[in-house]
Amino acid sequence: MEIITDIIADNSVEKEYSRKISLGHRKKYAQFFTPYTVANLMAQWLLGNKKLKTVLEPAFGLGIFSRALITQQSDIDIKGFEVDETIFSEANSTFAGIENVQLLLKDYINNDWDNKYDGIICNPPYFKFHDYDNKTTIKEIESRLKVKLNGFTNLYTLFLLKSISQLNPNGRIAYIIPSEFLNADYGKLVKASLIKSKTLRHIIVFNFKENVFDDVLTTACILLCSNDNNYQKIKFSSISKLDELETIRNYISAYPTETNTGLTFAMNELNPEIKWRKYYQIQNGIRYKNLIPFSNVAKVVRGIATGANEYFTFSKSKAIEKGIGEKYLRPCICKAIDVKGNFFTMDNFQKLVNTDRQAYLLNAVGAKNDNVIKYIELGEKTGIDKKYLTACRTPWFSLENRPPSPIWVSVFNRSGLKFIRNEANISNLTTFHCVYPVQSSLFDNINVDVLFAYLLTDIAREIFEDNSREYGNGLQKFEPNDLNKAMMLDLSVLDKETEMEILKLYNKYRETVLKEIPDETLVDSINEIFRNKYCLY
Ligand SMILES: C[S@@+](CC[C@H](N)C(=O)[O-])C[C@H]1O[C@@H](n2cnc3c(N)ncnc32)[C@H](O)[C@@H]1O
Repeated sequence: MEIITDIIADNSVEKEYSRKISLGHRKKYAQFFTPYTVANLMAQWLLGNKKLKTVLEPAFGLGIFSRALITQQSDIDIKGFEVDETIFSEANSTFAGIENVQLLLKDYINNDWDNKYDGIICNPPYFKFHDYDNKTTIKEIESRLKVKLNGFTNLYTLFLLKSISQLNPNGRIAYIIPSEFLNADYGKLVKASLIKSKTLRHIIVFNFKENVFDDVLTTACILLCSNDNNYQKIKFSSISKLDELETIRNYISAYPTETNTGLTFAMNELNPEIKWRKYYQIQNGIRYKNLIPFSNVAKVVRGIATGANEYFTFSKSKAIEKGIGEKYLRPCICKAIDVKGNFFTMDNFQKLVNTDRQAYLLNAVGAKNDNVIKYIELGEKTGIDKKYLTACRTPWFSLENRPPSPIWVSVFNRSGLKFIRNEANISNLTTFHCVYPVQSSLFDNINVDVLFAYLLTDIAREIFEDNSREYGNGLQKFEPNDLNKAMMLDLSVLDKETEMEILKLYNKYRETVLKEIPDETLVDSINEIFRNKYCLY
């Protein structure tokens, strides 16, 4: 077999392109390039199909996968799709004279539905639902594949869904995509398709300290799929260093012979409805006994969404200017930055008011006061009543019926989950979720302070983390249901004496926080009490 030698077998083409073309342009088309070593590994998976003749590269870029393929096997016909003219013309000159690579300046999603391939290899564009024409694209995929998609679906999962439908018998797929879909709601359908098509073989999750893609905020994973009969075993590997890719290389060369790479599951063991993190990451919760669902003890719901914060929120001076009295204003925390420690007291609230922070929400339903009526008319004149959320409410300026919750939890955090005891008993916008302890006969003796003491500990955070969403670079997000579905230690098994000990430490900690000299060793001591009582090893 003839090997083409003047093909560039490294990332120099991509580097040169990134130097020449602005970041703005590259971002517009999601042009983040695959490291050559990774592309090469993925190419090897395709080459493992001994009958590999036709290959599709749906998001061609500068054709790194095609380069990796044809340096190893030249007698394959490759078709590439690309939508950006700039990169397309660069790619054309890189592949000039190589006749078995056919490049099309066309969108992948809307073309080529009737063709099937022996190999499909791709690093698809990463676009959130609001960054591409999601309505038309989703409709196209839904009508072609007869599926119902979540409107929040990211474009990369649509590429994958289409590619799964374009495999010849024994055909193989290698995709590199963000690992987000493994643990996000919009990923359920893709996971179900990977199972239903019986093509999924191996998911390799990158857990690198640095990003694989230089300037994009995602963690990545490689999917290896094959349309053959060896669908009994699915592997999950988690890789933290590039040189660990060697184990994957071994898996690929041995396939379908079993190797001891990663964690292995039977196809019917995989549940598309749950977060797949549990298949590739050691769960923190398994280290503890007496775990119960958090939802047994508390319910988490999102904070108040006004639909027009600028209009609905008030500072003291705005209230004076508009002549609106406290009777028509509901105390409310509007910004996360206004809460410093883990306790939010009436004093803290008063300070916000006195420093003229937004600390109130308009509460105007049923008001007969002239100034309030004037302010409502102003809202109507400026179209606030026609906004997405306000238009569905009656009257449009009514607030969501959400009483203040005794505990808040931060939504998006770099340093992990943060719980706040709302001692001021005020409302909160969506910057926090509300945590309401459950009032049931089983748990009516749950002491909110003991619960909160637990929520302050590292153990609580670790166990919640089993259910977080990842946004790369250590950024975590918790939707209310991630917390509702998470586990916690069962505090009802604590004896009275231990409970008192915890409360003593907790009260001391509270005092130090209020004096603005927080003594974290007190929380560490609470953590230790829980560790001694619940840790299995
Ligand atoms: C993440 S880059 C990957 C490039 C290259 N395959 C690599 O791995 O280095 C995605 C490429 O897909 C192209 N692209 C974006 N939307 C597309 C679409 N709808 N159809 C085909 N290509 C698309 C972008 O212009 C970009 O070059």
